[in-house]
Amino acid sequence: MNRSDMATYNDVALTINAPIYAYYAERILAKTDVREGVCLDVGCGGGYLGLALAKITGLQLLFLDHSADMLQHTAENIRACNLGDRARIILATVQEIPLEEGTVDLVISRGSLPFWGELGAAFGEIKRVLKKGGHAYIGGGLGPAEMRERLQQELCAYNPDWFEHHRKPPVKINGQYREGLVSAGIRNFTITRSDVGTWVEFRGV
Ligand SMILES: C[S@@+](CC[C@H](N)C(=O)[O-])C[C@H]1O[C@@H](n2cnc3c(N)ncnc32)[C@H](O)[C@@H]1O
Repeated sequence: MNRSDMATYNDVALTINAPIYAYYAERILAKTDVREGVCLDVGCGGGYLGLALAKITGLQLLFLDHSADMLQHTAENIRACNLGDRARIILATVQEIPLEEGTVDLVISRGSLPFWGELGAAFGEIKRVLKKGGHAYIGGGLGPAEMRERLQQELCAYNPDWFEHHRKPPVKINGQYREGLVSAGIRNFTITRSDVGTWVEFRGV
């Protein structure tokens, strides 16, 4: 994405698509019950999912992305939410996370996984930084059907070329995720492909 596409993506994420992040934040909380400690949002974009989760928990948020331009939006969004005292930004790739081993209670990520190369290295890094018993909840989706359809209509009204213009993520099959997880030495994981997207879950050991 160029800078102008990023700015548009950010505007849409904060307005039309905002319910998506609130939905997955609630879902992650219901699934993991992690309310305190450190949460790492990987491939955070403008930090939408992490910020939605910060609003309903006491978590400290680390926002990691390999795009410095995207992280400028994250910084603005953190300020707008008054969450500066609970948030830090990290410019890095998921394949090389500059954090100590066993320091993160919850790793979350939405909409970034399909873009990751070197999946074994990526999952290996997430495994390394997770605390024992910590949770990883990583994947993507546009919410449940009713929400998805409503938002798609709103997006088409906002910009009829939206789906033409915005690149769809490369399609990856479950086997590629499985291979990456296994090569990272992660033994217990689930990959769920359902109406609300594809999500990978595992725990720190
Ligand atoms: C489609 S955006 C999703 C952003 C946000 N998580 C959301 O749900 O709207 C994908 C993001 O993943 C980031 N990304 C892609 N590959 C990455 C990698 N290997 N390491 C870190 N960030 C990555 C991109 O820079 C981009 O901000």
